[in-house]
Amino acid sequence: MPANVVVLGAGVSGLTTALLLARDSKYNVTVIAKHMPGDYNIEYASPWAGANYLPVAKPGTSSETYERGTWPELERIAEDLPEAGVHFQDTVIYRRAKDAGTATADWFAELIKDDAWFKDVVPNFRVLPKNELPEGMDGGTSFTSVCINTALYLPWLASQCLKYGAVIRRGVLSHVSDAATLHHSGKRADMIVNCTGLSSLKLGGVEDKALYPARGQIVIVRNDVNVMASVSGTDDGPDEATYIMHRAAGGGCVLGGCLQKNNWESQPDPNLAIRIMKRCVTLCPELVPKGKGIEALDIIRHGVGLRPMRNGGIRVEKDGLKGRDGESVNVVHNYGHGGYGYQTSYGASQAAQKLVEEMLQPKARL
Ligand SMILES: Cc1cc2nc3c(=O)[nH]c(=O)nc-3n(C[C@H](O)[C@H](O)[C@H](O)COP(=O)(O)OP(=O)(O)OC[C@H]3O[C@@H](n4cnc5c(N)ncnc54)[C@H](O)[C@@H]3O)c2cc1C
Ligand SMILES: *[C@@H]1O[C@H](CO)[C@@H](O)[C@H](O)[C@H]1NC(C)=O
Ligand SMILES: *[C@@H]1O[C@H](CO)[C@@H](O)[C@H](O)[C@H]1NC(C)=O
Repeated sequence: MPANVVVLGAGVSGLTTALLLARDSKYNVTVIAKHMPGDYNIEYASPWAGANYLPVAKPGTSSETYERGTWPELERIAEDLPEAGVHFQDTVIYRRAKDAGTATADWFAELIKDDAWFKDVVPNFRVLPKNELPEGMDGGTSFTSVCINTALYLPWLASQCLKYGAVIRRGVLSHVSDAATLHHSGKRADMIVNCTGLSSLKLGGVEDKALYPARGQIVIVRNDVNVMASVSGTDDGPDEATYIMHRAAGGGCVLGGCLQKNNWESQPDPNLAIRIMKRCVTLCPELVPKGKGIEALDIIRHGVGLRPMRNGGIRVEKDGLKGRDGESVNVVHNYGHGGYGYQTSYGASQAAQKLVEEMLQPKARL
């Protein structure tokens, strides 16, 4: 008899964890979430992500392990599974000395190093010689990354879960213990995996005060420019950023951005949108016809997402909770993925899968 597992959340964290468990015949998986692939909502971070693989973890942390562990799977998907909407893109990362100490430079601290820890993880890592640096840049690197079209990739993850027998249902939980009674078998769940991101601050049970939002705003435009580039900072404010990436399979070109901590505003700021477009056109003039400015950009949509940041980093942990009904529930947490939910998705989900296995093992032996 497989163990009954309820995965809470259908963002990249929940769906990746559900997929790893569903592929394993030891588990019978139900995914329950308020928001599903196809939805655009401020409480649902995953659709708003670029998304690309630009490691930012400090060396020696578990996040480093998760980012390391994720690259091989994203590489395999980009190589072999075109239906997933993930493609390779060569990227450049530029560093300006004057950005040192700003919020954006801190966020990118590992990313912008010439001897970055991930130089042997990604293909084609190299330090850019001075003559390849645009004006105003003091250093830079380039390597091969991926860009994920989240509008294809999230539904693809959900379809993969269905293919391996998982059941996906809408549900809004007001308390932890409710999840235990929502397995599609009708039987009590043996395990809950908590992939609720940021919005679960309101969820009854343990409220994790270490969570906070870091607002990101993007502009998605139509063009054929195959560029991925990022800069360590801007002249427009310490928590603003400049990055460009082109999503696979017609997903549009993403212009970003910012990392505004503790800002919950769900609506795009039009002034910020203009600054983002101006900076991106300055960095990459090919985004518009020669001699034109941002008025020549063909905008698909503006977007705002809240990165689920967590003091102390991603939480992948075992937990035992008492539900409202007094019954105990096995829980494995996998949340708090900040601005790196895609690039840590497989590594963190593999770690969660291992904890699920450990927690259910004693029971399986009986
Ligand atoms: C502008 C922007 C750019 C980004 N770029 C990148 C990038 O390039 N690379 C990268 O790796 N990451 C990037 N990120 C970060 C990435 O988007 C997040 O880390 C990731 O999406 C978090 O996924 P999640 O599944 O943990 O949470 P979410 O996607 O927020 O999903 C949470 C799920 O839990 C459900 N849920 C919550 N509470 C309840 C409840 N009470 N009952 C039922 N369901 C509930 C929600 O409905 C949802 O399904 C970016 C983020 C933003 C905002
Ligand atoms: C999962 O549970 C459902 C409902 O009880 C059952 O029909 C199905 O056979 C189970 N799947 C596996 C792989 O045991
Ligand atoms: C899941 O994590 C959130 C924090 O994101 C917490 O508030 C909630 O109580 C947890 N749910 C479960 C089922 O443990």
